[in-house]
Amino acid sequence: MKVLLIICGVIAVVCLQCEAKTFTRCQLVRELRKQKFPENKLRDWVCLVESESSRRTHVISRPNSNGSRDHGLFQINDRYWCNNSNKPGKDCNTTCAELRTDDITKASNCAKKIYKRHGFDAWHGWIIKCKGKNLPVIRHC
Ligand SMILES: *[C@@H]1O[C@H](CO)[C@@H](O)[C@H](O)[C@H]1NC(C)=O
Ligand SMILES: *[C@@H]1O[C@H](CO)[C@@H](O)[C@H](O)[C@H]1NC(C)=O
Ligand SMILES: *[C@@H]1O[C@H](CO)[C@@H](O)[C@H](O)[C@H]1NC(C)=O
Repeated sequence: MKVLLIICGVIAVVCLQCEAKTFTRCQLVRELRKQKFPENKLRDWVCLVESESSRRTHVISRPNSNGSRDHGLFQINDRYWCNNSNKPGKDCNTTCAELRTDDITKASNCAKKIYKRHGFDAWHGWIIKCKGKNLPVIRHC
């Protein structure tokens, strides 16, 4: 029984991984354009996503020191922005699971809302890897 549980656990973990989508840089650029992110900030958004999630849609962070977690492509925090249950809520009026889907519409709208309120400084990954740094090249995309 125990062995069976372990095997099922391993399969479940593997399948969570294989569900996950990792965009290439140019795929990400196309997705962000589709979501109407402004062209003049696109390189910052690409840098932010690469820094926060390595362009993976399904990632959940380990719990932060205060017990909250970050979700999806933009690593959006569940303390303020999304509800961890299956009822949409908090400031982005969404479930956290909806921020981890391959359709990035919900996650993008939420990220824009965060940006409007706090700017890129809301993202630690942007501050350490992107702020004042050379941004990713997307000219060829
Ligand atoms: C919890 O931690 C996250 C990440 O460190 C941070 O963004 C958030 O503001 C913190 N929330 C509180 C209430 O301290
Ligand atoms: C999150 O979901 C729970 C359970 O469905 C619900 O009781 C709660 O009101 C929701 N929180 C927010 C902020 O919407
Ligand atoms: C939140 O989203 C739900 C649908 O997902 C909608 O029915 C509800 O009106 C929204 N609430 C707010 C405050 O925007």
